[in-house]
Amino acid sequence: MEACVYPGSFDPMTKGHLDIVERSSAIFSTVYVGVLNNVAKKSMFGVKKRMEMVKAATKHLKNVQVVAFDGLLVDLLKELGARVIIRGLRTGADLEIEQQYAFINGKLFEGTETFALLSRPEMHYISSTAVRELIAFHADVSDYVPGEILSMIDKGE
Ligand code: PNS
Repeated sequence: MEACVYPGSFDPMTKGHLDIVERSSAIFSTVYVGVLNNVAKKSMFGVKKRMEMVKAATKHLKNVQVVAFDGLLVDLLKELGARVIIRGLRTGADLEIEQQYAFINGKLFEGTETFALLSRPEMHYISSTAVRELIAFHADVSDYVPGEILSMIDKGE
């Protein structure tokens, strides 16, 4: 069995993200969750906090490791000796973007494969963008984020 990398911003991690990690961990030997540390992109939560959140939410999964990356995704794949990228798909708009990413990543690193997992219907409308907006207005996000990270959200960055 191969390892895979599930990259993303995870700002913050949602129940939709967790579902993709859980389903991937049942198929692949190791799931590396790659948390993007993009200095050019302002995030609500710092990379350290985002990693802590993913670690807390996935602690029941023994074959999941959380890593930060700040360059090209394919460089992370090379470093980890992995060639499979996992992405979750909710909508047709997601598919368009993922096709682009998959094509570019495949050109950058030959042999790379992107596996897209279709989101479960109940996860369809969950996005980090919507969760950030709710957090900004101090609204309840317990339906959308893993229970383990709720207290971490309250404490801010
Ligand atoms: O959760 P997101 O924000 O949809 O994740 C996007 C992510 C992290 C997968 C994407 O931005 C990425 O891979 N960034 C690293 C830079 C890179 O390798 N880009 C090449 C593909 S265009």
